[in-house]
Amino acid sequence: MATSDTVVDLAALGPDFATDPYPVYAELRARGPVHRVLMPEGYEAWLVVGYEAGRAALNDARLSKAWSNAAPDMGVESVAAGRTMLGTDLPEHTRLRKLVAREFTPRRVEAMTPRVQGFADALFDTMAKEPSRRGDLVEDLAFPLPITVICELLGVPFLDRARFRGWSNTALTDHSAEARAVAQKAMNDFLVDLLDDKRRQRGDDLMSDLIHTADEDGDRLDAEELLGMAWVLLVAGHETTVNLISNGVLALLTHPEQLAALRADPDGLLDGAVEEILRYDGPVETTTYRFSVAPVELGGTVIPGDGRLVLIALADADRDPARFPDPGRFDISRDARGHVAFGHGIHYCLGAPLARLEGRIALRGLLDRFPGLTLDTDPAELTWRGGMLMRGPVHLPVRW
Ligand code: HEM
Repeated sequence: MATSDTVVDLAALGPDFATDPYPVYAELRARGPVHRVLMPEGYEAWLVVGYEAGRAALNDARLSKAWSNAAPDMGVESVAAGRTMLGTDLPEHTRLRKLVAREFTPRRVEAMTPRVQGFADALFDTMAKEPSRRGDLVEDLAFPLPITVICELLGVPFLDRARFRGWSNTALTDHSAEARAVAQKAMNDFLVDLLDDKRRQRGDDLMSDLIHTADEDGDRLDAEELLGMAWVLLVAGHETTVNLISNGVLALLTHPEQLAALRADPDGLLDGAVEEILRYDGPVETTTYRFSVAPVELGGTVIPGDGRLVLIALADADRDPARFPDPGRFDISRDARGHVAFGHGIHYCLGAPLARLEGRIALRGLLDRFPGLTLDTDPAELTWRGGMLMRGPVHLPVRW
């Protein structure tokens, strides 16, 4: 068994890597499932590629989510506020997740349909009134829909949303550690104030409920946990779904035969189309950070057990031909189930039912209300979000 000596410099690939990371991951996969890489974010990490190795790593308790297990010499800083389910291992993780899990069950989420549809309809109405019949799909729909839904659920005032978006974008994808830290502090202060307000005056929202009520076992979140919960739900709830909508519209508009098939049979094909979008160009490119607490061997290579940063390339797992035949083909009629766009194991996305609902409503509304929707740019001209965590275009110019 070997430990990898060479470090693959992904940072040196520049914006090309953000534009199309798939061939880079595929080339690494051809050489083996684990590689040492230098990330555009400036950190050195162990990157797991391929479907089988990726799923195994996602389920491996030796890869801890707790930042206290990070080796100090790596210099990685958490961008999270407070204590979150995404930054804890068993058994703490179970407790934090359980306290909100009931809010996100498929049944609870299904009941949100009329409200999500109402928010989406209002955005479609605004688009339809635009005299130029052009716009940026990210600004007009993909961003405002998920943030409105999650802010409504959590009780975040409307006016604060734009500021929160700026900080969250910077904290998650800016290449400068200093810019990330400034944004992270601003987000933290904002959430502390928000929770204070809700402590003083209870609203009709999830955060107020979490502050003011204990669950059936009498369990309650402490201040750090409340802060973490607000942070993880707000950030995970809008940074990702925006890319599901944008990447989905882009995939459909650049594959006219798939778009035509979907238009011909939306009732039959929409659910499968959302799954294929998640597989083909999912919103989360590599996982959030994990840290090795014991040596982990994958395909003959050993990741040392001393708190190394480990990332799993979800984008590559879902393009592994060993799991999905002809993986680079966008085909809404294929069986894309089993993709790992929402992760796998105990940290499997809590918001998956909500994300799917928003994706279906956004795509269905666009098909029904904007029959002439087309791209208003050469896809090669699009700028993609930086860093390895998120995958989506910064803007998506469209005409209708
Ligand atoms: C298409 C949209 C979405 C995608 C692709 C996505 C993807 C993911 C992925 C890959 C993970 C696991 C990360 C890891 O293991 O490192 C995750 C976790 C999580 N997601 Fe999502 N997500 C989406 C939407 C949402 C929404 C709308 C919410 C809000 C309610 C949400 C809340 C969460 C939470 C709370 C976790 C942490 C779960 C845990 O640690 O147990 N996500 N998501």
